[in-house]
Amino acid sequence: MSETVLHVSKIRNGTVIDHITGGHALDVVKILGITGREKKVITIAINVPSKRFKSKDIVKVGGRELNPKEVHKIALLAPHATINIIRDYKVVEKQRVQLPKIIENIIKCANPACISNSNEPVQAKFYVENEEPLLLKCHYCGYIMEKKDVLQQF
Ligand code: CTP
Ligand code: ZN
Repeated sequence: MSETVLHVSKIRNGTVIDHITGGHALDVVKILGITGREKKVITIAINVPSKRFKSKDIVKVGGRELNPKEVHKIALLAPHATINIIRDYKVVEKQRVQLPKIIENIIKCANPACISNSNEPVQAKFYVENEEPLLLKCHYCGYIMEKKDVLQQF
């Protein structure tokens, strides 16, 4: 076996988040609320060579699956990520993350004066203007949110 091959253990049960945009693995870990003290195997690979892209990150989480809100948050940062569900060492489900055209209730508007940040019963709502680089337009005030604005909230 070549010395340049990357050896990362397979997991028995859990979720592999693969093809994460290089450099965002630790953001994904944060989105999932992983502390490292869960007594589960967590594997994080950062900036490893990828066939499809220049480099990618991988996060493997033993013993759990992701909820839709977590998947949408990951899609904001890593629109090419794939979510692989592993059972008994086999990939039983592979799903590419998908960013809905409208994002509701996942992030707040970064404009403090926006009505969605007031006490009015108005839920934050954004239109996805562009996936990469990420551009979200607030439905209420028109503020354009970029990836850095989103990262601040995770
Ligand atoms: N994987 C794992 N443990 C397993 C099975 C798979 O950690 N028991 C990981 C693989 O290392 C890979 C990802 O889950 O990072 C997806 O596995 P697989 O579909 O077998 O790999 P590829 O065909 O390379 O995936 P893709 O086509 O999505 O690139
Ligand atoms: Zn707004």
